[in-house]
Amino acid sequence: MSARHLAKEQPESFEFNADFAALAQKRIAMYPEGKQASAIVPLLWFAQKQHDNWIPEAALRHIGDMLDMAYIRVLEVVTFYTMFNLAPVGKHFVQFCGTTPCWLNGSDKIKNACKSVIGDENIITEDGEFSWLEVECLGACVNAPMVQINDDYYEDLDEDSFKQLLADLKAGNPTKIGPQTDRENSAPLGGNTTLIDNTLYDGSMVGDYKSVLKQIEKAEAEAAKAAAVEAKIKAKEEAKAIKTEAKAETKTEEKPKATPKPKAAATPKAKAAPKAKKTAESATDRVETKPEMLTEARGGKADDLKKISGVGPKIESILHELGVYHFDQVASWDADQIAWVDSRLKFKGRIDREDWIAQAKKFVEEGDK
Ligand code: FES
Repeated sequence: MSARHLAKEQPESFEFNADFAALAQKRIAMYPEGKQASAIVPLLWFAQKQHDNWIPEAALRHIGDMLDMAYIRVLEVVTFYTMFNLAPVGKHFVQFCGTTPCWLNGSDKIKNACKSVIGDENIITEDGEFSWLEVECLGACVNAPMVQINDDYYEDLDEDSFKQLLADLKAGNPTKIGPQTDRENSAPLGGNTTLIDNTLYDGSMVGDYKSVLKQIEKAEAEAAKAAAVEAKIKAKEEAKAIKTEAKAETKTEEKPKATPKPKAAATPKAKAAPKAKKTAESATDRVETKPEMLTEARGGKADDLKKISGVGPKIESILHELGVYHFDQVASWDADQIAWVDSRLKFKGRIDREDWIAQAKKFVEEGDK
């Protein structure tokens, strides 16, 4: 890569002619207000086209003014791209690629030909016909080695074909743009080496393709049918599993966790009957009254309500949702409050049946949590 400097000899001024000025305005208008600087590359290109294939300093300033850009910013852009020439070049400006793929394919010989036919790099021949510059990869590596002359690529060069090309340009003869061999664009050298069997494309390998298509359609339909049956069976199995799971959960909740130990000797059975009767009778007279609830457990830690016989994980979570977190809350419920809570549980009558109040009171007395 050569250093990018402005030419020593510069014209006094630069302005776009009417055609390029119109093109420039069209480009600038493509960008939103405040983003006109984005048009810098096309404007530099227009300046180069107008000014004998190189951009004078006055053009850089002119473009900076047009785009409201600091001149140093314009200079940064123009020196970055080797497509912009900052000094006069020959009528046929040769940009020679010396990057690795081209170098591996013999670009040194092209470079030597540049030196021997044209002269030193960046020097215009006396007749003004040629100048050359070594640049980085021009993106045509598959056709290495290559050069760009003005706007055209010449590829798959060797020393002889390159020298002949320069001679034709000097003589004004027509030239062949692209590969200088019989190669077609970037196709393999010597022609295609794969996929060259015509039977791959004429359908003869497939034979009666209509019957093959029918076979494919049939196979696809059968596969879709099998998938539908499988999905149906799977859905049934899943529904069955959910049902079984729900049943198992219900059973677990109904089973008391532990039988509370009576403090005193067992009450004779004959006496228990009237008590149960009384409870059942009083339940019908109750007026549901909401007990005082909490929005969260005190101190952030709820009592283990599952210690109450008849309270499983599910009922405990319902109690939490209602705002019941502690034994003392349960212990404080009266009959109407029991009725309110009872109606919100799945298994009504459980509070009385399991005697939660007595159990909760016991846990409170014992300081259980
Ligand atoms: S290396 Fe020469 S064109 Fe890419």
